[in-house]
Amino acid sequence: MALDLNHKSILVTGGTGSFGKQFVATVFEKFPDVKRLVVFSRDELKQYEMSQTFPHDKFPAIRYFIGDVRDAERLKRACEGIDVIVHAAALKQVPAAEYNPMECIKTNIFGAENVINAALDCGVKDVVALSTDKAAAPINLYGATKLCSDKLFVAANNMKGGRDLRFSVVRYGNVIGSRGSVVPFFLQRRHTGVLPITHPDMTRFNISLEEGVDLVLYALEHAWGGEIYVPKIPSYKITEVAAAIGPNCRQEIVGIRPGEKLHEEMITETDALSTVELDKYYVILPFTPRWNVDDFIRHFNGKRVADGFHYNSANNDDWLSAEQIREEIRLHVDAEFKI
Ligand SMILES: NC(=O)c1ccc[n+]([C@@H]2O[C@H](COP(=O)([O-])OP(=O)(O)OC[C@H]3O[C@@H](n4cnc5c(N)ncnc54)[C@H](OP(=O)(O)O)[C@@H]3O)[C@@H](O)[C@H]2O)c1
Repeated sequence: MALDLNHKSILVTGGTGSFGKQFVATVFEKFPDVKRLVVFSRDELKQYEMSQTFPHDKFPAIRYFIGDVRDAERLKRACEGIDVIVHAAALKQVPAAEYNPMECIKTNIFGAENVINAALDCGVKDVVALSTDKAAAPINLYGATKLCSDKLFVAANNMKGGRDLRFSVVRYGNVIGSRGSVVPFFLQRRHTGVLPITHPDMTRFNISLEEGVDLVLYALEHAWGGEIYVPKIPSYKITEVAAAIGPNCRQEIVGIRPGEKLHEEMITETDALSTVELDKYYVILPFTPRWNVDDFIRHFNGKRVADGFHYNSANNDDWLSAEQIREEIRLHVDAEFKI
């Protein structure tokens, strides 16, 4: 049966973030009879600003709930009567995580544990947690905390007993135009005539916010519990992004920064041992005895990936050219963008 979130109560942690706002917009568009849509985050100003776009009088299902995912009690209160949790709250700036490691650990790992406990205690039916490519073979603290979070959500399925409850994870790469990412940085710098390039060979995955939301909705509709969903998405070279945004700019090589990879990875060779390929997605399945991979393959018409498979932003078949990147920026970041 197709996903129907009408008459359901949904809580989105990090609801005021880039993903959260797009998620809320999509839910109201696709499921206008949603019963309750709770935005859970810390900062009252972001919630106030969001309430200008989604005011309570026009969107009676919306609730703005101030809270911190580190605060288990508050989270549990917010989850009363909730059917679906989408967990998007995170600290995600790599340098900030390196400098303030315990803060990142408290939000991304202890926060994940609190979301799991609240779901177990409050009769929630589906939980989807957002992960990142940086969680696959992590080299920085942010990625390492998201890997821990992924492990917690996958393992949470072992604790649910007889509950009708599924925990799954979606993992994806750079969201075009998201705060602190390369596209807004280059857009801001292009007037100087020089764009700093960390490494001429550097590659990244590219996904739009809308595609990220679609992936979460797919997981909500299809998860059995324990899957990590990875979308098939294109890559770009950083030099192509620079060419797209500042074709006349000089590209200055500044060197790779601490905690950065040359290429991002979404599925490691070890993950691939339990990875199934579907039409638009890969699914990393848990290594637990109660999982029958053959049943999953039959049910979703999937196939096992080949021996030695791994999915990183350098070995991708799908690449964005400078012209396609310009189009992505116009579509998803800045409709006025011109070169
Ligand atoms: N953006 C990307 O390129 C990308 C790529 C892959 C995966 N992801 C993942 O996608 C998710 C959403 O990312 P995003 O781009 O939407 O991030 P974002 O724009 O930075 O938003 C983060 C949200 O989390 C909230 N938050 C932070 N700490 C919190 C806490 N302790 N308790 C409650 N809320 C908290 C923030 O609001 P307050 O500050 O007001 O609390 C904000 O609403 C994250 O899990 C991230 O790891 C992002």
